[in-house]
This record gives sequence, C-alpha cells and structure tokens, in this order.
Amino acid sequence: MLSINNLKKTYSTGDEALKGVSLEISGNEQVAIIGPSGAGKSTLVQCINRLTEPTEGDVYLGDRELTKLNKSELRKARRRIGMIFQEYNLIDRLTVMENTLSGRLGYVSTWDAFRRNFPEEDIKYAYETLDLVGMEEFADDRADELSGGQRQRVGIARALLQRPDILLADEPTSSLDPETSRIVMELLGDIAERENIPILINIHEVHLAEEHVDRIIGLTKGEVVFDGPVEELDEESKDVIYRGEQIPDDAADMAHSQATVGSDVTDDMTERTDA
Ligand SMILES: Nc1ncnc2c1ncn2[C@@H]1O[C@H](COP(=O)(O)OP(=O)(O)OP(=O)(O)O)[C@@H](O)[C@H]1O
Ligand SMILES: [Mg+2]
Repeated sequence: MLSINNLKKTYSTGDEALKGVSLEISGNEQVAIIGPSGAGKSTLVQCINRLTEPTEGDVYLGDRELTKLNKSELRKARRRIGMIFQEYNLIDRLTVMENTLSGRLGYVSTWDAFRRNFPEEDIKYAYETLDLVGMEEFADDRADELSGGQRQRVGIARALLQRPDILLADEPTSSLDPETSRIVMELLGDIAERENIPILINIHEVHLAEEHVDRIIGLTKGEVVFDGPVEELDEESKDVIYRGEQIPDDAADMAHSQATVGSDVTDDMTERTDA
C-alpha cells in the first residue's frame, strides 16, 4: 500500500507545487491523477520515489517510510517502484530486449550489467513480459526503430522487470495517438490486475482516465479537490478540478483568463478543459 501524508513541495523558485496532499492507494487499484497544467501532478509522482525531494510530509510504501531513507536505502526501495514516462526514456541504440532487461539493473552488479550478464531467470522473464505487452517479436530490434506505441510497451515491460510493488506513470499516453493511447491504458489496467499491484497514472486526457481507471484524484493548485470512484466524477466535479470553482482566488483567475485570451494560463486551461 502507498500512503502519502500531508505532502508539501515548495521549489526553490518559491512555487508551492504541493500544499499538503494526503492519499492512500492499495490492492490493485487503478488510479488517475487529473488536473490542469501546473496543478502539481508530476511533482506528486516524482515526490513518491524522491526524484524530487518533498519539502514536508511523508510517503510510505508498505511499512517503509520512503521519505526517511538514506541514499543507498532509497536506491533499493526504488527497485520496487516501476516508473513509466511520457517520453519512454529508452536507450535508442540498445535493443528492445536490452532495454527491457535494464529494468533489472538495480538487482545485478555493475560488472554483470556492464557485461550484460543477466541471470537466465531474468532473460526468461523478459521474454515473457515482452510477450505480455505484445513486443516479443521485436526483441532484437533497436529501440529507435520503434513507433511511439511500441516504445511505450517496452517502457512498460522494463518497469515490470523490476517486479515492482507499484507502478507510477507520468503522462504515459501524451505522446501517442488516441487509438494507441487507449491500447496502452488498457494494457496498464490488465497489468495492474494480473500483477495485483496498484497503478497511479498522471493523465490530462480526462476521457481516457474515465474509461480506464477505477478511481480519480483531482489535483488543483497543489491540493486534492476530488478523490473518488470514477462514477462520481460528474460535470460539477470537473468544474471544480479544471476551473477552480469553490476556490475563492480562482474566480478572479477565471475572469482574468477570459479577459486575456492568448495568455499562457488561458491556453492551458482551454487545452485541458477540452481534452
Ligand atoms: N523544477 C522545478 N522548479 C521550479 N518550479 C517547478 C519545477 N517543476 C515544477 N514546478 C512548478 O510547480 C508547479 C507544478 O508543476 P508540475 O509540473 O508538477 O505540474 P503538472 O500538473 O504536472 O503540469 P502539466 O500538466 O503541465 O505536466 C508549477 O507551478 C510548476 O511551474
Ligand atoms: Mg506534468
């Protein structure tokens, strides 16, 4: 189980990206974090495995407090957190199999990794996983020969090779076309069920979240303004998440953005609202 308590992040620039976020995710829940650009979605995901250091609050994975770990403990803990990225983060000149096996890097010695000496068991699991994501026949292809959707499947396979306790995905579909996005979201859902692990997905396409997850967390200006089953995400809730209704400061922001068409804020709001 992932448990986040009163998590705050203020960047050195003074940006208060998270203002006290608390949430719990367990079982094989499929959870989407939605919210306008700048809401703090990426910051939240990065604070979980401390790619970004939180300013305050704590994060537990099971009974281990991630926010208390020293560097080497953190390195070990991160093995159990599978991360999936918008831009896939594959190594172009390596093959699909090599990229997939790199999910085991936290487990093998540097020397073995350098020699690409992976245990037989890992290689077998890599083939199985590539099969699961529909990429087995591409095992020997270089990553830079793949389409975006194929690259993301490899990104997912690599995360699975870690045998993670949880999967975190930051906008896993925003570089993909709508049909491929749907396939990737479906795959993530299947995996959560099959591996019996929870999955937390940052996503700005609300309809994709609605179609594919069990639970939605709405983040606005660093605060959770909605947390509930997907069936409860009605138009009113979306207004709260995307237009900041009920948040007094925002009434002014809305009026301002309507009056200043073309500003960054307006572009972002429009883009997210229409998505
Ligand atoms: N490295 C950083 N340094 C300073 N401020 C940052 C940094 N990263 C993010 N921020 C600020 O923190 C806030 C939250 O940003 P974050 O990237 O987490 O939002 P987001 O919800 O992921 O947005 P998007 O949908 O555009 O990806 C924003 O105000 C952003 O400008
Ligand atoms: Mg983001």
